[in-house]
Amino acid sequence: MMIFLIGFMGCGKSTLGKKLATKLGYDFIDLDHVLEDKVGSNIGDYFAANGEDAFRRLESKLLKEHNYPANCVVATGGGAPCYFDNMEWMNDNGVTMYVEMSPIALAKRLEKGKEKRPLIKDMNHEQLIDFIETRLVERNRFYKRAILSVDGINLTPDKALEHLSQFI
Ligand code: S3P
Repeated sequence: MMIFLIGFMGCGKSTLGKKLATKLGYDFIDLDHVLEDKVGSNIGDYFAANGEDAFRRLESKLLKEHNYPANCVVATGGGAPCYFDNMEWMNDNGVTMYVEMSPIALAKRLEKGKEKRPLIKDMNHEQLIDFIETRLVERNRFYKRAILSVDGINLTPDKALEHLSQFI
C-alpha cells in the first residue's frame, strides 16, 4: 500500500509522513530528497541552474519511476500534484491524502526556513501571503482530487490513521 501525502509547501507532509510511516511500520520516502539524491544537489541549486520546467519534468519522472517498497508513505513536493498527470498517477497507484491548511497558517510556518524553497526564498511577509493565496486557488483544483482531505492544523498520525482506516 502506498500513501501519498500532498499539499502546499509548509503544510507538514514530511513531519507527518515520517511519524505515520513509523506507526504503520512502513517505509518513508520524501520525493524532494529522492530528486536531490538523483541530481546530487539541493532543489534550490537545481532550480537556479536548470529552471522550473526541467525540475517539473524530472519530478514527474521520479514520481512515476521510483522503485517504491510495497508499503510506504510518500511525501510529495507541494507542486507535484499540479503538473502533467501526476495526480491521476498517484490516485491510480495509492491513496492520496491532502493535508489542508489556510494561507495565514502556511505563511507563518513558511517564514522559517524559506531560504530552502526557491519559489519563496526572496519574498517578504506580504508577498508570501499573496503568493500563497494565489497559488492555493490554482492548486486546490488538483489537491481536491485527493481521495482524502484532512485538516493539517494539529494533525497527528493517529488522526491521519483514522482517515486511512478504510484503506489499510
Ligand atoms: C515546491 C515545493 C517544494 C519543492 C520545490 C517546489 C512547490 O516541496 O518541491 O521547492 O512548487 O510548491 P515542499 O512542499 O516539500 O516544500
